[in-house]
Amino acid sequence: MQIAPFELERWQSVWENRVELNISESGVEPLTVRDLLDDPAAAEMLLGLRLGYPQTNGTEELRARIAALYPNARAENAILTAGCAEANFLVSWLLLEPGDEVVFMLPNYVQIQGLAESFGATVKPLWLREKLRWAPDLDELPRLITNKTKLIALCNPNNPTGATLTAESIKAICAAAAKVGAYVLADEVYRGAELEGETTPSLWGNYDRLFCTGGLSKAYGLPGLRTGWIIGPPTMIDKLWTYHDYASMAPTMPTEKLAFLALQPARNARIIARTRSIVRKHYPIMRDWAAKHSGLLTHIPPRAGAIAWYGYNTGWNSAEMGEELRTQKGVLIVPGNQLGMDGYFRIGFGGDAEVLQKALGRIDEWMAEKSEKAKAKEAR
Ligand SMILES: Cc1ncc(COP(=O)(O)O)c(C=O)c1O
Repeated sequence: MQIAPFELERWQSVWENRVELNISESGVEPLTVRDLLDDPAAAEMLLGLRLGYPQTNGTEELRARIAALYPNARAENAILTAGCAEANFLVSWLLLEPGDEVVFMLPNYVQIQGLAESFGATVKPLWLREKLRWAPDLDELPRLITNKTKLIALCNPNNPTGATLTAESIKAICAAAAKVGAYVLADEVYRGAELEGETTPSLWGNYDRLFCTGGLSKAYGLPGLRTGWIIGPPTMIDKLWTYHDYASMAPTMPTEKLAFLALQPARNARIIARTRSIVRKHYPIMRDWAAKHSGLLTHIPPRAGAIAWYGYNTGWNSAEMGEELRTQKGVLIVPGNQLGMDGYFRIGFGGDAEVLQKALGRIDEWMAEKSEKAKAKEAR
């Protein structure tokens, strides 16, 4: 099997700890272990924890806490995975065969696209349209869906645009899937990191052939725990457990216990409130920066997530832009091509606000130098 490099993950892994100003992250400043052990009994529990094998699919109690995040879900609808990445991997591995077609929302975290192509499936983009404020054009659906469509893969709230699907779009997408018996996978890992208003409703409950993936990496600020999950029909969750046995097999024991603490309802609410206060506080920096460059950049405010997505009309190649910012200015952004869309770039605003301001200043310098060079070239 040929697999293509997962450029986005490799770009961040290689450079995030080597650049001066990393604004490539998509989550908020992570919590510490101490933040989770905020009562003495919890600290004692962790110190006395025997590092045996945990329940491989997640304990019933933890799966019940995960299921409680979804309407009418129960522990048997859930399986614990190593991050949302493993959740997406397992569903793709279970479903996809050579010759299948996958309708894939773009731009996006392109993991499922890469996996689908590796498994011999054909990927058909369901583009989010900037002129629709990053909503999909539902009129495109009939053309994309055929009898070979096995899966429609969505990211809601979307990485990188931060847009969320309307109830009407969700209904239309599920109805289109139902026509050909396709599955829907909704990656909802950014759910809970809304800048304003209600938590984005899960797709759960909209369709019977549905998987919702999620985890603690983004809205909970706990990416280092590597806690993810899949919510699905119990018979499919049972099948996925077999695939999980062949993949990570089990979570780590500290992961299992710390995830259980993080999802305790009162603590869960405090963690989500912290995330929402960070994104609310930092986003105006991104909005004002876009306004300052309104002749050059396009930007539609995200509904959720600590990520801002910018387009530009200058013809810069986004991979080159990312490379030049890294090498010349010590700034790590995510170039749009790594998210399936050249001509755009993504900035994470959930980290340190001073780092963010400094990095934006360096991007200003780079953009000014670029336009100077372009003007000089024109004058020649
Ligand atoms: C949409 C989406 N899904 C999944 C992941 C992977 O999440 P995790 O770190 O929980 O494996 C990411 C990470 O950036 C993501 O953006």
